[in-house]
Amino acid sequence: MSTERVVLVTGGNRGIGRAIAERFVAAGYRTAVTARSGEGPEGTLTVRADVTDAASLDAAFTEVEKTLGPVEVLVANAGITKDTLLLRMTEDDFDSVVSTNLGGTFRVVKRASKGMLRAKWGRVILISSVVGLYGSAGQINYSSSKAALVGFARSLTRELGARGITANVVAPGFIETDMTAALPEETQAEYKRNIPAGRFASADEVAGVVTWLASDDAAYISGAVIPVDGGLGMGH
Ligand SMILES: NC(=O)c1ccc[n+]([C@@H]2O[C@H](COP(=O)([O-])OP(=O)(O)OC[C@H]3O[C@@H](n4cnc5c(N)ncnc54)[C@H](OP(=O)(O)O)[C@@H]3O)[C@@H](O)[C@H]2O)c1
Repeated sequence: MSTERVVLVTGGNRGIGRAIAERFVAAGYRTAVTARSGEGPEGTLTVRADVTDAASLDAAFTEVEKTLGPVEVLVANAGITKDTLLLRMTEDDFDSVVSTNLGGTFRVVKRASKGMLRAKWGRVILISSVVGLYGSAGQINYSSSKAALVGFARSLTRELGARGITANVVAPGFIETDMTAALPEETQAEYKRNIPAGRFASADEVAGVVTWLASDDAAYISGAVIPVDGGLGMGH
């Protein structure tokens, strides 16, 4: 079903965010992406923003509002990893990942919620990770930031659920992007042995779930964690 709703995807210049933006464009949404560098896919409005900087996000939202209208669907996708074992993890390794993945989500959702409350309609979709609930050696910072998004979405659901706003978490497993390409070959092979589907997913397989959560068919789903992980997390 085609729609002209306005969607904003953070980190839409590459990887999963870019695939999500492409899907929204194809479905007829007026689609904006934030990018620190580069551009979103064809058919999107690219706005500059760093999710660690609330002022840059505010300016980006103002530009989207002026050009496309208030943001009705928000996909908080921007995220980073800084993997290392606990004893080697510096305060900066921890803080920068939490400030981007969790703090960035807080900043962007807070800004988006104003328009959604006014419209009494909104969809908030947070991109977490299978390792948020499954755990992962070498990713204390990353998995903590991703697990926190579950509490975030559920608290948001309790705060804004009666105002026509849903908040859900999508938890991808291993997806073919720059993030996973950076993993050593042997680590990638080891992961594939543990994934029941026996393969990594394409970013488009995550994007299809995100666009579905934004659709009218998902109007009564909120506070949910939807895994897109080929069975890796199973119950986590
Ligand atoms: N790939 C996977 O297997 C996988 C699995 C589970 C979850 N995820 C999650 O899915 C999301 C997207 O991952 P990906 O694999 O597509 O990663 P990616 O290819 O590394 O892309 C990350 C995106 O986030 C943006 N970003 C990072 N820090 C930012 C900041 N401070 N402000 C604004 N934008 C920022 C990047 O912008 P720049 O281009 O400017 O750096 C880029 O657009 C992340 O939240 C990630 O944790 C990925």
